Amino acid sequence: MELLEHGAQVPDPLQPYLDVDRSHPRHECWVTGHMVAGLDGTAAIDGRVGALSTAPDQSLFRRMRQSADVVLIGAETVRREGYAPIRLSERARALRRQRGLSPVPPVAVVSRSLDLDLSSSVFVRAHEEARTLLITCAAVDPQRLETAREVATVLIAGQGRVDPATALRALAERGHRVVLCEGGPRWLGELVASDRLDELCLTLSPLMGGDPLPVSVTPPGAGLSRFALRGAMVEEDTVFLRYESVPAGGSADG
Ligand SMILES: NC(=O)c1ccc[n+]([C@@H]2O[C@H](COP(=O)([O-])OP(=O)(O)OC[C@H]3O[C@@H](n4cnc5c(N)ncnc54)[C@H](OP(=O)(O)O)[C@@H]3O)[C@@H](O)[C@H]2O)c1
Repeated sequence: MELLEHGAQVPDPLQPYLDVDRSHPRHECWVTGHMVAGLDGTAAIDGRVGALSTAPDQSLFRRMRQSADVVLIGAETVRREGYAPIRLSERARALRRQRGLSPVPPVAVVSRSLDLDLSSSVFVRAHEEARTLLITCAAVDPQRLETAREVATVLIAGQGRVDPATALRALAERGHRVVLCEGGPRWLGELVASDRLDELCLTLSPLMGGDPLPVSVTPPGAGLSRFALRGAMVEEDTVFLRYESVPAGGSADG
């Protein structure tokens, strides 16, 4: 065991996250989960994440999006949080352009029901180069599907439910090879259960007593997934942990 001590100052907390080599994923794309939890593991307070997130977490969370080809989210988070299209600073947009990316990453929403407010800003105000994607399954209501196609690019990725591997393959085929999943816990749990979470950036907020909702809810029967700690930072009372997945039978030494 080692004592973690306050060490070197990090001039820009985003830099260690940008420095990660995500160019050689285990599958066709690299999936990073970015979540915040209370000390008791809670992922929400009164159904929202806002009160959990401290100022340094909010800043890192927003800026982290510049590293992503696409931001992937479960439908319930969109319904509760009222998602908007991704916004980035001028500098971040210019850096993305230099790398041949759209100035902002598109949002991709996973939903079986398509029970979403299709007039909300995440759909109707998306950047013209980053149209919002809707990932659903073949069993969806055809009427809703037709309406959804008017405001989003629809991907069908499974029969009765969205199959994570099929969804990620479809995103990779569109050139989205670095996928940033911002939750929620149930969709993240689906990715974990399918062994498709490559990295977890987890912020620990210094509070307890939120909703009985952990940061990842894996479906019944899912096995355990193992991760290795690759980075830790602290600002005041907020801890930022970065883990990478350890493939079954692998070692954490990386
Ligand atoms: N702490 C954090 O970092 C964090 C991050 C994000 C969200 N949150 C909080 O988490 C809560 C929402 O999370 P949640 O876990 O309840 O929901 P969620 O994961 O955001 O969304 C669940 C929904 O996604 C769709 N979905 C998930 N898996 C699917 C599959 N395999 N096939 C088809 N559709 C699928 C379904 O949508 P349909 O119902 O439309 O079919 C399902 O109801 C909110 O309170 C939010 O504030 C916290």
